[in-house]
Amino acid sequence: MCGIVGYTGYRQSYPILMDGLRKLEYRGYDSAGISLFADKPSVFKCSGKIRDLEDHIGTADVTGTTGMGHTRWATHGEPNDINAHPHTSQDGHFVIIHNGIIENYDILKNKLEKRGCLFRSETDTEVLANLIEYIYLKGKVPAEVAVRLALTKVVGTYGLVVMCSSEPGQLIAARCSSPLVIGIGEGEYFIASDASPIAGYTKSVIYLNDNDVAIIKSNELILKTVKADEPKMKLQSINIDTNDYDKGGFEHYMLKEIFEQPRSITDTFRGRLVPDQSDIKLGGLHGVIDRLQEARRIIVVACGTSWHAALIGEYLLEDLARIPVEVEYASEFRYRNPVLGPYDIVIAISQSGETADTLAAVRMAREAGAMVLGICNVTGSGLSRETDAGVYTHAGIEIGVASTKAFTAQVTVLTMIALLLGRNRGHIDEDQYRSLIGEMHSIPSGITRILEQSPAIRDIAKQFSNAGSMLYIGRGYCFPVALEGALKLKEISYIHAEGYPAAEMKHGPIALIDENMPVVVVGVKDKYYGKIVSNVQEIKARKGIVIAVVNEGDEQISSIADHILEVPESNIIFSALLSVIPLQLFAYHIAVERGCDVDQPRNLAKSVTVE
Ligand code: G6P
Repeated sequence: MCGIVGYTGYRQSYPILMDGLRKLEYRGYDSAGISLFADKPSVFKCSGKIRDLEDHIGTADVTGTTGMGHTRWATHGEPNDINAHPHTSQDGHFVIIHNGIIENYDILKNKLEKRGCLFRSETDTEVLANLIEYIYLKGKVPAEVAVRLALTKVVGTYGLVVMCSSEPGQLIAARCSSPLVIGIGEGEYFIASDASPIAGYTKSVIYLNDNDVAIIKSNELILKTVKADEPKMKLQSINIDTNDYDKGGFEHYMLKEIFEQPRSITDTFRGRLVPDQSDIKLGGLHGVIDRLQEARRIIVVACGTSWHAALIGEYLLEDLARIPVEVEYASEFRYRNPVLGPYDIVIAISQSGETADTLAAVRMAREAGAMVLGICNVTGSGLSRETDAGVYTHAGIEIGVASTKAFTAQVTVLTMIALLLGRNRGHIDEDQYRSLIGEMHSIPSGITRILEQSPAIRDIAKQFSNAGSMLYIGRGYCFPVALEGALKLKEISYIHAEGYPAAEMKHGPIALIDENMPVVVVGVKDKYYGKIVSNVQEIKARKGIVIAVVNEGDEQISSIADHILEVPESNIIFSALLSVIPLQLFAYHIAVERGCDVDQPRNLAKSVTVE
């Protein structure tokens, strides 16, 4: 949440900052601003998106070889022009941009007000700007010292960049729980919330750790901790394909990412599903596989769509590897008092690898002595750095806020882990193993067949664009698919939708069914098929409208459902990977029909880096 970008060097910073903000807009998009240092820092900011900021700046002078920019997801104070970042301290000595929450901002604000400080905004960030200025003026210390001392008084989370009006050419960056990466060029430095704005300029980066402070000038980078100790940091190389920022002719990133899935799933198992040997090799788990296959139980933690992938993982690991699995919302798990110890294995799943609750759950599990593995899409992210081992999903950059290809990549990784453990633990014999690996290779082409139905799905979707509410039901592997289908719909179309295990329908949701209630039924041919047929009958008996996801050639459900979305028949362990695709398209087309901002739905952000 909130994107941060900074530059100091020999180039004009404005185009670098604006380009960076566009790449970080997925992190928040309710207001935006930049500050450019020419003779002194100038600030331009307004509510709205980056394009609104550009309009606001218009033809103003944007010279400055040092600058910083921010795209906001509001925590304290509504998204208006005044609350937008950057914030300037009362006497104009400091300008600051901030991602995170200063939890003790009230106490600090009261103290500063008693000392005569006046505040313009409702934000916690302005409190920090004034605290830094107060320490700077009172202590007559360099800006860097004032920033570090101020941070020792702060409770909360931050990724921040500060400019001081009397120290031109300098950016001071600091991190505690909100990611920051520094790009190292020749005679120039970059700062950003993730490496995407940096990738076009340099491959060399340093990820700041918690309590690190970077003092950056065009020709010098000094790294310290908040307490002025030597920090532990290492130079890393990034590998980001900047072409991923192109929409590739699609109207939205989300549609592009839905259509990328045959390719992204292939990338997920590239080099891991070894066809000649009919085997699965997961290099990231190499050193831990013995311990993993002896696990007495596995706890999977995640949030949002990743949590739905985790649920599918539970079915897969229990079915194929016969290991008991518990799936936890990271936000609940971290604050409960879970029974956890060195014998436990925790798998954290996160597309971004930066979700605050997931990272907190990881830290808690490690403190309890558990081995923690990560399944993550973003290389170099917090999750990849804070886990004992893990597997990258390699789905490529996902820009649409509603996750699609990252989800199927996570399920693909979980399927590979479950198959491997199942074979190693003796619950799947070699023939089954080989045959399932063979079938897995055909999933991308199965998805391509589903994607060909997009125009037909759009025609069906148009009929439901005015629905007030929708119910999604499924059983077994298709229950998490129902949850995910409902989540996609509410995220991007703002239609209320609920996912339910089909058999639970009788314990509540059936009361909602009448001729106005569309019900999406995920009814592929698995051991529940007969029961799902009965559910469809029950819905129709109450005049509900049924949109059913069925296997190609299905007859029973197809004969009673109002609309059908077809997916190829598969072994049940692959049914989630296939049946989620038409639901992604269904939600997408409804949202487009309703004129919604599909890639940047209201109130949401792609990385939830605050609690
Ligand atoms: C946000 C995003 C979701 C995502 C969830 C978890 O809510 O909008 O698309 O599933 O965070 O994110 P993660 O990066 O941890 O998978």
